Amino acid sequence: MLRIDEVTVKYHSLIALDGVSMDIELGAIHGIIGPNGAGKSTLMDVVCGGKKLAAGEVSFEDKAITKLSVRTRRRLGISRCFQRTSIFPELEVGEQLELAASRFADHGLDEIIEALGISSLLDEVANTIAYGDQRRVDLALALLGRPRLLLLDEPAAGLSVAETHAVFTHLTDLVRDRGITAVVVEHDVDAVFSFCDTVTVLDLGRVLASGAPSEVRTNPAVIKAYLGTAA
Ligand SMILES: Nc1ncnc2c1ncn2[C@@H]1O[C@H](COP(=O)(O)OP(=O)(O)OP(=O)(O)O)[C@@H](O)[C@H]1O
Ligand SMILES: [Mg+2]
Repeated sequence: MLRIDEVTVKYHSLIALDGVSMDIELGAIHGIIGPNGAGKSTLMDVVCGGKKLAAGEVSFEDKAITKLSVRTRRRLGISRCFQRTSIFPELEVGEQLELAASRFADHGLDEIIEALGISSLLDEVANTIAYGDQRRVDLALALLGRPRLLLLDEPAAGLSVAETHAVFTHLTDLVRDRGITAVVVEHDVDAVFSFCDTVTVLDLGRVLASGAPSEVRTNPAVIKAYLGTAA
């Protein structure tokens, strides 16, 4: 569904991604893990259109998207959740969901609210709800317009083990029920290895390993660079 081909990204002289290639399969949950500064968030920017490439190509459903804007890609079906929640803090949850739904002419808002279990939050002001709830509202916003590819940057950051499990369970349901493909950056490796179909490990801007969770988890280079003895 998505092909990242020899992508290099620089921030001035710093090379954040260095010739990164990977394929994301249709209908998969594809996990991206790696140490801080490995280039994971930069990779999400590359896919959603937020960062220019120094070299390489990105294609989505066999169409080159390298030069398309964030908005054009969003309309094509590529939607991103942020590492930090991107909801408007001072609006009521219901208001902002309705605003976003009308912008995307999406009549399926009720279904999304139901699927994410956020109906009790609709009358609350966004910055007064619990952090875990904010993440779910952010996910609801990202789902409007029926995206086909969902990019999630640390959806479980700051959440408890139980909440993390709930986020990934929701994600699994969404992928199955809505035919979505998901790319998930996450530091919680247990969640990634349990819920993802494929895992890519980035380290220092390069792909260290990519494959099924069982292969990646036992890969000596991955253990050395990232997992340590904890895995
Ligand atoms: N806006 C920026 N300006 C300059 N350098 C940046 C910028 N954004 C990221 N970098 C650098 O690019 C490299 C990759 O950063 P990136 O945020 O993609 O890493 P990450 O894997 O998402 O890390 P984390 O796990 O901490 O979120 C790092 O060395 C980082 O310092
Ligand atoms: Mg990051």
